[in-house]
Amino acid sequence: MNLSIPIELIENSCHDLSVRRSIVTEQRILSPGQLAAEVRRLTSTPAEWVARVRLDPEGRWYERIHVSDRYEVWLISWLPGQSTGFHDHGGSAGAFSVVWGALDECVAPRSGGRALVTQVTAGDARAFGPRYVHDVRNPAAGSVAVSVHAYSPPLSAMTRYDLTSGGLVVAGTEGEDDW
Ligand SMILES: [Fe+2]
Repeated sequence: MNLSIPIELIENSCHDLSVRRSIVTEQRILSPGQLAAEVRRLTSTPAEWVARVRLDPEGRWYERIHVSDRYEVWLISWLPGQSTGFHDHGGSAGAFSVVWGALDECVAPRSGGRALVTQVTAGDARAFGPRYVHDVRNPAAGSVAVSVHAYSPPLSAMTRYDLTSGGLVVAGTEGEDDW
């Protein structure tokens, strides 16, 4: 019996499989725009989550309020001066929206150059793709800020950076066990 399979059938089969895989992958991952829509939705419906918010004078308070294989959502509260430091989000895209107060988002070129600070006020949303690096801070002297953050796929690793005169320098990495 001849069990050989014509090569063109194998190629077709492989092609179909790769197409199917890419469609599944696209469906599982939310785009920055979709993540922005989700944080905007949650920002406009605080009754769904406001009772969970806490304040922590030792550092930013945060809690994950949703996780699936597609994306996750975190609440963060910021007392005056609390900040993240420069960090990326690994291979995840993300978005955040300010609910109360205001945050400053600082973006610095990896290889040096002038950092750009954007004020994000209540109702505003920012969205970004994988490998994006920023520092987020509550610059107010006396006001608390609360924000909603979404990431897709869920965060699995982050890299922290120091901002030097020569640009961003890796300071360390974190995994899921660190947060
Ligand atoms: Fe971030």
